[in-house]
Amino acid sequence: MKLLIVSDLHANPQGIRAIWEKEKDADAIYAAGDYSDYGPDPVAAIGWIRDHGVHAVYGNHDKRVIKTYREGSYHDVPKDRYSWVHYNCQIMGESDVAFLEGLPQHICFEADGIAYMIQHQYGPRYEIIESQYHFDKYWAENYIGPTRPGQERRMIFGHTHRQMIMQFANGLWLNPGSASYRRPDEPSKDAFYAVIENGVISLRHTPYDAAPLNAVVEQLKPVMWDAEYHVAHYFFGMTEADGPDDAWMEMAKAHFSKENHKPME
Ligand SMILES: [Fe+2]
Ligand SMILES: [Fe+2]
Repeated sequence: MKLLIVSDLHANPQGIRAIWEKEKDADAIYAAGDYSDYGPDPVAAIGWIRDHGVHAVYGNHDKRVIKTYREGSYHDVPKDRYSWVHYNCQIMGESDVAFLEGLPQHICFEADGIAYMIQHQYGPRYEIIESQYHFDKYWAENYIGPTRPGQERRMIFGHTHRQMIMQFANGLWLNPGSASYRRPDEPSKDAFYAVIENGVISLRHTPYDAAPLNAVVEQLKPVMWDAEYHVAHYFFGMTEADGPDDAWMEMAKAHFSKENHKPME
């Protein structure tokens, strides 16, 4: 069985389309949240998840978008506060928001004899499970369904946008990375993801065309809060290596760091 594991599309349909071109023979797709916010096309990104029958959980940015949309607080936002979340809410429709609202916090499933649990993030902050004790405790408290003695256990997380595997004595957690944007210190601009084929994990990435995304970023420059505009440069093109302006790079990093340390609701 071939599983495609993706996460953190962040209103970017370009990355997932490039991934799908390479992995169309997947038997099932699982997604670990954050389909909206911090990108220019949440409608297409959410539509992709919906149209491909993806087994999807919600992320903290999806909750943020839902809250902003339902409160109606995306109208008449001043320029020094106009953010991606407001833009996303303005172009999303009721069906997109309802889809996000219907997503579960986590999904448990079995494939090729291995027990899996997928959710966006672990814990109230930005941390991830880093000990056997916490792995076992979290599994016992959250896994729904029976596991056989000695059965391999795997958790899938997103949120950090850092592609990695952490191995424990009787299980592992993996993060496929983001199918959209990079952290400021990440030189690659590819879309990251994971494939699990007959139980064997493969961490992969692929280039994608960010030009349509950057075109929207530039369109919004006159009306968007400077910090959010600059952050978008990181997402879809700029890195520390090619950033010409130290001042706005620092501003973007500070803004980005603050946004991503908010607790999951
Ligand atoms: Fe994210
Ligand atoms: Fe997140």
